[in-house]
Amino acid sequence: MLAEAFVANPLHISAFGPQRIDQNRSFFRIGLRHMFTGQAFVALADDKVRGYIHFNASPNCLPAPEEIPLVVTTLLKPLGEAIPQIIKWFARWCHLDPEEPHVHLGPIGVAPDAQGQGIGTALMYRYIEHLKQERSAGYLETDRLPNIEFYKKFGFVVQREEQLIGTPTWYMWRPRNK
Ligand SMILES: CC(C)(COP(=O)(O)OP(=O)(O)OC[C@H]1O[C@@H](n2cnc3c(N)ncnc32)[C@H](O)[C@@H]1OP(=O)(O)O)[C@@H](O)C(=O)NCCC(=O)NCCS
Repeated sequence: MLAEAFVANPLHISAFGPQRIDQNRSFFRIGLRHMFTGQAFVALADDKVRGYIHFNASPNCLPAPEEIPLVVTTLLKPLGEAIPQIIKWFARWCHLDPEEPHVHLGPIGVAPDAQGQGIGTALMYRYIEHLKQERSAGYLETDRLPNIEFYKKFGFVVQREEQLIGTPTWYMWRPRNK
């Protein structure tokens, strides 16, 4: 489901190529087993997973920069030719990860045929509830312009914008106690 949700996202196209559902599946399998180690929630409809959200408290929300070479030579091996792009992508995200304590959002994805029906919003409310309970700031990266408006509805503001592996990327922050 995550592979289908993200296959057309610009960062995924830059790293894996267009319509590389196979590469996206491998990528998310690795993520689900080894990287998405915080809290995760799924949205179910008729017993099928239609949406997924993961969030994790800093400073353990991304691999530490010094861990990246090990991750590459072991976990990412199935991704072959995409590895150099993935290294640039995650090294940059790790480098920019704010020092200020936060709960890092990502990934959030909804099955393509279920988008625009409120599932993403429902998952976001669960995350915002957690931020309020923990009195924590929120942080995320995104590569799609329409997502910016979506996240602004939940109190996020754009902190930085840049090109990353050939695609615009936005970094968004939600202050604590909002
Ligand atoms: C972004 C995403 C999680 C939103 O989930 P969703 O279930 O489609 O969102 P909702 O139906 O709750 O809300 C849609 C709202 O967000 C906006 N939106 C953003 N991306 C959208 C999309 N691809 N389809 C429909 N609406 C989208 C709409 O303007 C809509 O606003 P409205 O409520 O004023 O009509 C989902 O579209 C998705 O999985 N996209 C692909 C993967 C992705 O980009 N994930 C986020 C990476 S940072």
